[in-house]
Amino acid sequence: MAKEKGIKELEDLPGIGPTIAEKLKEAGYGDIEKIGVMSPHELSELTGMSVEAAKKAVEAAKQATTLVYSTGSEIYEQRKNIGKISTSSKDLDDMLGGGVEVKAITEAYGRFASGKTQLGFQLSVNAQLPVGKGGVDGAVLFVDTEGTFRPERIESLAKQAGLDPQKALDNILVVRAETTEKQILTVERADKVVREKNVKLIVIDSLMALFRSEFMGRGALGERQQKLNSHIHKLQSLADTYGLAIYVTNQVMDNPAILFGDPTTPVGGNIVAHAATTRLYMRKSKEEKRIVRLVDSPNMPEGEAVIKITPTGISD
Ligand code: GTP
Ligand code: MG
Repeated sequence: MAKEKGIKELEDLPGIGPTIAEKLKEAGYGDIEKIGVMSPHELSELTGMSVEAAKKAVEAAKQATTLVYSTGSEIYEQRKNIGKISTSSKDLDDMLGGGVEVKAITEAYGRFASGKTQLGFQLSVNAQLPVGKGGVDGAVLFVDTEGTFRPERIESLAKQAGLDPQKALDNILVVRAETTEKQILTVERADKVVREKNVKLIVIDSLMALFRSEFMGRGALGERQQKLNSHIHKLQSLADTYGLAIYVTNQVMDNPAILFGDPTTPVGGNIVAHAATTRLYMRKSKEEKRIVRLVDSPNMPEGEAVIKITPTGISD
């Protein structure tokens, strides 16, 4: 979106100096457009400036925001260059239209040992590769809710990918979240680290495990879904703001309502179903083989790819 009247940076807005601008950026409000849609009260609360001054800043931000219309073909051109992270399996990449996309949430669900975490590790390594070489040249924020992050495994995958294992590990920022509070806070406060470390992939492994165990019973479901909704909303907003990819793993349950076919259903209900841009259902097959089904995608047909989990990582 273009700006006018010489207002280009937050600092150009009335009443906003470098300190307040920095505060806003840290809180994820780095764009003029974002200030333009804030309420003066919100802005005042966040920055400590008076409501009156905040009103003026919001008004100026609104004025400075002009809507630009893009044609379908312009968007098509832009989408051709959109960042994709390779899964290291050509078949799976092809099914995904090139790999795991930035600015989107990709969810992998499946039973235990189906390869969800392994795919998360592979993406954490591949995201660091240069653009055009299967990566997006960025760092990774890995939120580990199950204590299954394995640096040894990253080391092997990094070697295979031709990366310096030490550097690859240094580029993965791991947060061990034992509670939903910590999981939520990690994401709420991610803006700073995302900008400072050039994070291009956020992994949440697993998205639902803590929510599921902390909010037991029917009575807690409403509260759980509310918290989950704002958690996922923040993830999507990080993806959009910084052009990064989000990969989440999810657990499954048997849906007794499905009488014919596979009753395996991801947990999290409609909120997760609607939020995930792309959904992958992973199944264990013989030995190293895993079947990955593309269940939901905005632009690719449903399909299946067979991958292998080998000592050096994922392959065809
Ligand atoms: P849950 O988190 O339990 O729901 O499962 P998950 O879907 O995350 O499974 P995960 O990705 O951890 O896959 C586990 C499987 O990957 C194991 O059963 C192994 O087959 C394989 N695997 C894990 N680590 C290694 C490894 O170091 N070498 C090899 N060759 N295979 C591994
Ligand atoms: Mg796992």
